[in-house]
Amino acid sequence: MSHTITIEPIGQTIDVREGQTVLDACLRAGIWLPHACCHGLCATCKVQMLEGEVDLGHASSFALMDFEREEKKILACCATAQSDLVIEADIEEDPDAQYLPLEDFLGELVDARMLTPTIRGLWLRPDRPVRFQPGQYLLMNIPGVQGQRAFSIANLCADELIELHVRLVPNGAATTWLHTQVKLSDKLSFHAPFGRFFVRKSAALPMIFVAGGSGLSSPKSMVLNLLAEGCAKPITLLQGARNRDELYFYELFEELAAKHPNFRYIPVLSDLPADDAWGGARGLVHETLKNTFDNDFRGHKAYVCGPPPMIEACIATLMQGRLFERDIYTEKFYTAADTGQPARRSPLFKSI
Ligand SMILES: Cc1cc2nc3c(=O)[nH]c(=O)nc-3n(C[C@H](O)[C@H](O)[C@H](O)COP(=O)(O)OP(=O)(O)OC[C@H]3O[C@@H](n4cnc5c(N)ncnc54)[C@H](O)[C@@H]3O)c2cc1C
Ligand code: FES
Repeated sequence: MSHTITIEPIGQTIDVREGQTVLDACLRAGIWLPHACCHGLCATCKVQMLEGEVDLGHASSFALMDFEREEKKILACCATAQSDLVIEADIEEDPDAQYLPLEDFLGELVDARMLTPTIRGLWLRPDRPVRFQPGQYLLMNIPGVQGQRAFSIANLCADELIELHVRLVPNGAATTWLHTQVKLSDKLSFHAPFGRFFVRKSAALPMIFVAGGSGLSSPKSMVLNLLAEGCAKPITLLQGARNRDELYFYELFEELAAKHPNFRYIPVLSDLPADDAWGGARGLVHETLKNTFDNDFRGHKAYVCGPPPMIEACIATLMQGRLFERDIYTEKFYTAADTGQPARRSPLFKSI
């Protein structure tokens, strides 16, 4: 059985299938509702329901509080229609968004290798080209696992293969399967593109990228695409990892830094014995971020990707260095473990 959703104030009416989320229906119809995590955790997709009934799905009680439920607010990424709906949404006009419609794909696994002891690289050949903006992510269905899992796309837009960096989450159903069960030539179904973590080129400002762990995936795609397009603005990439074994694509970025005078690469290792011969930066990545820019980030756009605690530390550092919310973009790698707690966010940072 299907229902309709009317989206105000644009007044457009679309169909929604049983079990399909409000967000999924809107994105497929080319209506770009703001969204980030797609897991009911960040509240970016909160919209007002004006008429109808929904199942709120797995909306976290912190992202959608009791009083908001009473006010008929819903999280579009997990709400499913139980009747025809009318919603009121803030449809963003972002000059840098390409508003690519959401599509379904099958990807054949053609290569897989450990990039670090905990991160596995997967390369999928999609059944047709996947259109995405560098920094965006896909949602994958994993056999035997309920729900879908988000993984950021790490390759150049022009590449034939989709590259993913999957960190093994202890007791994680999907990541364990992707590390231990999936075989070459298996076909994986996924949906793309999602998210609003992409480069704001129209700002024409120097850019800072900060990546933690497998959070290198999005910044890798963003930086590679910028350099391939001949971007001449200064670009700094800080990559945080525990130790040398966990630092990956180090040689690639060293080579790019040697080739492109506008690109600076700073790997930062946090968990080294004092007598280790590593000559690069040590400590937590936000500390090196602060020192690298002398605690003054004005005139930059910053893009931060990885585990939520690292992102919060970077936001605090960037704000102390006078960069404000409108110039900071984040992609938080939430997992189900974040479900039972408030989404971590800076008090001054209103979006995710
Ligand atoms: C936008 C986005 C992009 C992402 N991109 C990447 C990427 O490029 N690379 C990457 O490695 N990761 C990425 N992630 C994170 C990735 O999606 C998660 O690591 C993945 O979903 C974990 O799935 P899993 O099935 O292995 O773990 P799950 O089985 O979902 O469990 C995750 C953890 O939560 C615990 N847990 C399970 N259920 C609950 C519960 N109800 N309450 C409390 N704890 C629970 C588990 O024990 C486990 O420790 C991204 C996440 C988001 C939101
Ligand atoms: S996108 Fe819906 S809660 Fe994050």
